[in-house]
Amino acid sequence: MTDIRDIVAIDGPAGAGKSTIARRVAEALGFAFLDTGAMYRAATWWAMHEGIDLDDPAALENATAEMPLDMDEDGGVTRVRVGQHDVSAIIRTPEVTRNIYRLDRSPGVRARLVELQRAIGSRGPTVAEGRDIGTVVFPKARCKVYLDASIEERARRRAEDFTRKGIAVDIAEVREDIRARDEKDMTRVVAPLRRADDAHVIDTTHMTPDEAVGAIVALARAAWNAS
Ligand code: DC
Repeated sequence: MTDIRDIVAIDGPAGAGKSTIARRVAEALGFAFLDTGAMYRAATWWAMHEGIDLDDPAALENATAEMPLDMDEDGGVTRVRVGQHDVSAIIRTPEVTRNIYRLDRSPGVRARLVELQRAIGSRGPTVAEGRDIGTVVFPKARCKVYLDASIEERARRRAEDFTRKGIAVDIAEVREDIRARDEKDMTRVVAPLRRADDAHVIDTTHMTPDEAVGAIVALARAAWNAS
């Protein structure tokens, strides 16, 4: 267990708006921002690129340990590089997304990435978002939020994102993808997605991003003032 405290931990299911909202919270507080999903995505892309057997946990752990990952924030987007490859866009494709669960259920892979996440979080105050930030990665985070929204709204937002990028999608398929990911995220044995006991639940179904950001910034300020 780590005792890093200067963290706003934001967990929640796919499509709840975590990345956008967490990044804006970080900006408002002047904190660093850490997208841990991007790390699981990069590790998945790397394993696929290296031709690793995605059903071999030991090979996946080794590949993750050796992955030359480099992440930085660049004008409101997380730039992700693995070696000389800029994988910022490809890690968001359905081909990669579909395979993430084969890595993220592996304790060895998670241990490697959690170690890296703690090293990044120990550099200074950070807003970190993912699935297990408040429960596993930073259990002593000063402020924990569980960001949720109805599955219909999450599917609608995801479909809108794809459409904006010029990718044609079928909303029923997007909804089914999200439902399947919820199930995998919540039922995996290691570090399943769940609300930490001390997390504040924010349901964004009927909230604008501004409202969600404002609510979390207020919670974070109150947590820092109280400590
Ligand atoms: O937040 P995202 O959609 O980019 O995350 C991609 C996947 O990575 C998600 O389906 C589950 C996994 N993940 C995880 O297991 N633990 C985290 N802390 C973050 C993401």
